[in-house]
Amino acid sequence: MHTTIATRLNHSMSLPQLNNDGTIRHFLGVEGLNRTQLENIIDKAMGYFDKEGRLINTDELVGKTVMNLFFENSTRTRTTFEAAQKRLGANVLNLDIARSSTNKGETLRDTLWNLEAMSADMFVVRHSASGAAHFMASHVTPNVAIINGGDGWHAHPTQAMLDMLTIHRELCLRDNKSFDELSVAIIGDIKHSRVARSNISALTTLGVKDIRVIAPKTLLPKGISRYGVRVFEDIDKGVADVDVIIGLRIQNERIGSPLLPSTSEYFKMYGITDSRVALAKPNALVMHPGPMNRGVEIASSVADGEQSVILKQVNNGIAVRMAVMALAMRGQGK
Ligand code: CP
Repeated sequence: MHTTIATRLNHSMSLPQLNNDGTIRHFLGVEGLNRTQLENIIDKAMGYFDKEGRLINTDELVGKTVMNLFFENSTRTRTTFEAAQKRLGANVLNLDIARSSTNKGETLRDTLWNLEAMSADMFVVRHSASGAAHFMASHVTPNVAIINGGDGWHAHPTQAMLDMLTIHRELCLRDNKSFDELSVAIIGDIKHSRVARSNISALTTLGVKDIRVIAPKTLLPKGISRYGVRVFEDIDKGVADVDVIIGLRIQNERIGSPLLPSTSEYFKMYGITDSRVALAKPNALVMHPGPMNRGVEIASSVADGEQSVILKQVNNGIAVRMAVMALAMRGQGK
């Protein structure tokens, strides 16, 4: 299932996620969406905050049934999708995968078709297999939307968009800057990270010219520099003068044999510490998609520090997921 990054990204480019008029039919990846389309998602998400910055409720999904199929563990994505669905007025059903008939050998396609027969309008899916959301999108009936909640190593498009919304709200609006002017460093296990792939794609499309990836060789995918990023093995050089630091956890569940001598050694070499944050621009944002491993990729003092927007990312996730689901439902002609 694991192919090269080039194959994965090329595959995504040909996905059937847009209608002919460019509206969203499914939301499978950020690859293949242009800058205007990504900005539309950010604008739509911004519309879900009131003047005080609190999330609002709408009736955009009233009468619609959304099913959440999380075949892989999740705290943030699953809960914020459900919160978003309820804020849009949808009927929400969460399939208990551990008790589902997938454990009796039922295929993903049969599970999908049976749930579809229960009048689902939209599925949100997380799966450990890269391509699972795309597979489902190519097997659902017309007028049913698939939203990718993270598939294997491949993509986590709503995470990328909530990260873009966070940068927009916390940095672009604060400092009156556009994405074109920013330097962004992504630190950690780039190789096994769907978040890194989707973020690199979204940042590039939004015009960021200086994207840096910082990791030991063992945690970098082959050919990464072809995607217009600068590669650093020295974290101190990599974070110098950046506007945004994005930390990533080591994806142990996707690594067969240990790639690192020890977590304490890793923290010493690549941990996001106060002294390293001080090398970035003053007021640089510190971000992390979660779950975090404190003392491995990030110091607690940084995670809980003044420059951290990690919990704001979580809240922005509700607005972005509201936006994506409302746009996809509209793109289904509903
Ligand atoms: N960032 C993220 O996807 O977190 P969860 O695995 O908790 O959903």
